[in-house]
Amino acid sequence: MSALADSGATFRWQQEYAIGDAQIDAQHEELFELARLLEASLRQNKSSSVIQPALSAIPLLVHVHFRDEEAFFERIGSPLLTQHKALHVRIAEEALWLTNALRQQPPAIAAVRLLDWLETQLLVHIVNADRIAVATAHRQDDAEVSERQGGARKGRVDFSRDRDGG
Ligand SMILES: [Fe+2]
Ligand SMILES: [Fe+2]
Repeated sequence: MSALADSGATFRWQQEYAIGDAQIDAQHEELFELARLLEASLRQNKSSSVIQPALSAIPLLVHVHFRDEEAFFERIGSPLLTQHKALHVRIAEEALWLTNALRQQPPAIAAVRLLDWLETQLLVHIVNADRIAVATAHRQDDAEVSERQGGARKGRVDFSRDRDGG
């Protein structure tokens, strides 16, 4: 089981996952909710009614979400934007390939495989990479502010940040 599952928080949106943009956070919450529904359907042996709509919805949800999120990261000046876009390309390609492949599978098997992919690829990405992309943007803001303040106050370059490793 993954760290997410071990924490007992699998498929349960937590406020601490929020990255501070209402639209992006709502989309993340929707993806968690989709995984939760899929998991519930498996427990109740009802995956046949949920799996086909989920397989159809996921590539589009992922596409729209990644587009909106990249625009958000661009607005806040995340230094990891280019790197993050490459992660998105890989996940979006996987989403397309996997959902196509799973259409031919029995519903319960498709649901298990889709849930596993959601947890180990998409939700992990939301909880880790997305938050790091935002945190580095904020760190950069802080550094720029202290650089401006320090520069104005002392009138010279301060290298202490570099010695501390940023
Ligand atoms: Fe995201
Ligand atoms: Fe992302």
